[in-house]
Amino acid sequence: MNIDPASFWQDPYPTLAEMRSVAPICYVPELGATLITRRDDIHTCEKNVSVFSSDQPSGLMNVLMGRNMMRKDGEEHRKERFVYYPTISPRKVEQIWAGLFVELTNNILDRFASSGSTDLVPDYAIATSGEALKAITGLVQVKFEDLDAWSQAMIDGVANYTGDPGIEARCVSATEAIDHAIDQRLADIQESADASLLSVMTQAGMPDEMVRANIKLTISGGQNEPRDAIAGTIWALLEHPDQLELVTAGDVSWRQVFEEYCRWIAPIGMSPRRIATEHSYGGVEFEPEDRVFFMFSSANRDESYFDNPNDFDVTRDTTAALTFGAGPHFCAGAAASRSLVGDVALPKIFERLEGLRLNPNGPPVEFRGWAFRGPLSVPVSWGNRS
Ligand code: HEM
Repeated sequence: MNIDPASFWQDPYPTLAEMRSVAPICYVPELGATLITRRDDIHTCEKNVSVFSSDQPSGLMNVLMGRNMMRKDGEEHRKERFVYYPTISPRKVEQIWAGLFVELTNNILDRFASSGSTDLVPDYAIATSGEALKAITGLVQVKFEDLDAWSQAMIDGVANYTGDPGIEARCVSATEAIDHAIDQRLADIQESADASLLSVMTQAGMPDEMVRANIKLTISGGQNEPRDAIAGTIWALLEHPDQLELVTAGDVSWRQVFEEYCRWIAPIGMSPRRIATEHSYGGVEFEPEDRVFFMFSSANRDESYFDNPNDFDVTRDTTAALTFGAGPHFCAGAAASRSLVGDVALPKIFERLEGLRLNPNGPPVEFRGWAFRGPLSVPVSWGNRS
């Protein structure tokens, strides 16, 4: 099926609905990839790692960011994840990170609470996500704005299929800046170990190259999704006052609101795979080296699981959603994100900023992206300011 890349970037959901209905596994020439769009097909194929492989030796992520655990299969992947995952497992999030998330969110709100208006994307979403990620990675000395810019530069670099030299140069300079930030922290961390990823991976004896690749993965994948979920969910609640009322009345939890927002507008819309061996599935013949995209954004609107899937409905059951993936690469940061966004960033802002509302005279809030998707800007006011 052909797509118009510009309108797919603007809003992929109508095209994805058509694919689910008439061609659920379809080759899209404009993306050079076969898109798998139904929830059950993704759920099944993602676990079949001997066919749908994460190992993409010549992929841009390996070339530009180093080969991290997301681009490995089987034992090689398990060994690396075994070191990484315990640092942000649900237990460690509760023991170590949750308290810190409350502290950093309060500090960020202190910075602008008296101003009466702001753009939530830079001042709240980028700041909260970035401060949390500084602590988790161990790169505590950097500015959250830099971390956000590095994250974006790597995301753009990895999707630079047309080989734009400017995009590549920005990605290279971001990864160099991250290497420099790691160098600055290594001596301290070797002297006094802490709970951060950099410390834990280094102490476990993980080779330096692997540590660096996984820190870069964490920055590219751990900044923009919580950012987009924070800004997007606040916008969704302000745009749907009936849904906000349900959560403030205590009828649904803030975590559930986070889950429903991420089902409705998935912060990560897709995860790529390489076909490792000839395979037939769903009436489609896959050939070695074919590129496949698991479309999580589409799975999350699959009509066979979700009634009226295009509606934001905080009371629905979201357990079938694939927001965080569905296989061995299931998001390692899921517990941290549920805590940061669901337990802290969402309730805190509504608690602190009385009368929070979208600016009535501002331009409509725009969302962009299909691989990653979030609002570009969310101008709000509160208190007595009109
Ligand atoms: C709303 C927030 C987030 C969403 C929606 C999200 C979503 C995802 C998705 C869809 C994947 C790919 C899963 C797959 O291919 O099956 C993934 C992988 C990953 N995510 Fe997240 N993510 C979020 C936040 C984070 C954070 C905060 C971190 C780290 C601090 C993180 C670290 C990772 C890592 C390391 C992987 C690769 C895991 C592996 O290969 O085993 N993510 N995430």
